Amino acid sequence: MNYRYFKPAVTQISLLGFGTMRFPVLQGQSGSIDEDLAIKMLRHAIDSGVNYVDTAFMYHEGHSEVVTGKALKDGYREKVLLADKMPLWMAKSEEDMARIFDDQLKRLDVSIIDMYLVHNINEAIWARALKFNIFDFLEKKKAEGKIHFIGFSFHDELPLFKTVIDAYAWDFCQIQLNFMDIKVQAGVAGLKYAGEKGIPVIVMEPLKGGKLTDALPEIIADTWAKAEIKRSPAEWALRWVANFPEVLTILSGMSTMAQVDENLTILSHAGPNSLTDKEVAIIEQVSDEYNRLTKVSCTACQYCMPCPAKLSIPNLLNYYNEWFLYDQNPKIIKDFNMFIPEKLRPEACTGCRACEEKCPQHLPISDLMRDIAEEFQQKK
Ligand SMILES: NC(=O)c1ccc[n+]([C@@H]2O[C@H](COP(=O)([O-])OP(=O)(O)OC[C@H]3O[C@@H](n4cnc5c(N)ncnc54)[C@H](OP(=O)(O)O)[C@@H]3O)[C@@H](O)[C@H]2O)c1
Repeated sequence: MNYRYFKPAVTQISLLGFGTMRFPVLQGQSGSIDEDLAIKMLRHAIDSGVNYVDTAFMYHEGHSEVVTGKALKDGYREKVLLADKMPLWMAKSEEDMARIFDDQLKRLDVSIIDMYLVHNINEAIWARALKFNIFDFLEKKKAEGKIHFIGFSFHDELPLFKTVIDAYAWDFCQIQLNFMDIKVQAGVAGLKYAGEKGIPVIVMEPLKGGKLTDALPEIIADTWAKAEIKRSPAEWALRWVANFPEVLTILSGMSTMAQVDENLTILSHAGPNSLTDKEVAIIEQVSDEYNRLTKVSCTACQYCMPCPAKLSIPNLLNYYNEWFLYDQNPKIIKDFNMFIPEKLRPEACTGCRACEEKCPQHLPISDLMRDIAEEFQQKK
């Protein structure tokens, strides 16, 4: 395993981190983790050198923390840095944060969470974090020795990312990054920004949740196959992330033992700044081919925002694009249902067309909202 130095802990962290959001499940039910296999996979990863494990309150309908805790019995807890997150959307008061945190310790059956993140910061969560004085709360937990390092995870846009980075002396942060999301969310610009400020970056969704590895469009499969160096799509994608020296560790949510083994091997060999120009060019070609399959030419410039009905228009268009780009992968509908609250789905568009007046791409956004609603409702 390759390791990278994490200065705040004066320790090395494995380049592969284990994300526990995609444990193997029984009968396709997210809440029914195949515990025996999940525990075997996590322990095998740790025995092979992984020393970073990431969980959250909501993963697997609340069962990820419990299974992670079980896997970390028998001496495994001491071998890893354990990361968990505060789901602020569930907190209605400052007292709720303390209750949720205590619940997490109980679910995990541990006394310390090494790496504690404010989960999924967006405008609303950030406002709540400030209103609830979350830094006082986190620093109190740090002083009590219940957490060691304070960070945040992020899925919103670059300007907010910069605001959040600048607002506090974070020990680390966590962003989505893969070769298709160079300019999406915090993106490479966010990675570099955090890097310049000396804040280590943990990467999530390096394989875009598996969309870069399964059901490849023919043209993409052909390009990978024609490359001089033969690599699996997972290896190309993980090596692309590992190439950035600003990346501390790469979380992958592995759902089979074979994936654990493959990712262990890949990240034992991928170094920073190790991709040649030729290799970068192949990845760019694949990225261009994916982009050519894009249905709606939204550039996520945000000119359409704010929407009077509070819809996150670029985000909804992104789901629609991904639906066609990644071969109608059911994961997209699953994510859509998980991350977009019902009242903020395209059906809530009032057709006021305020967004269309501002869209530099002249997209018929109201019609597209209707198309998305129809397409996704049929597939539920
Ligand atoms: N804080 C947040 O807001 C947040 C949000 C998202 C994720 N996370 C964390 O970040 C972790 C990583 O994100 P992610 O799970 O989306 O990572 P990812 O690596 O992009 O996606 C994981 C999926 O990729 C596929 N996969 C993994 N290794 C593979 C291989 N070698 N070959 C082929 N396919 C492979 C599997 O899909 P199949 O199951 O289809 O085989 C797996 O379920 C999560 O597990 C979670 O801990 C945090």
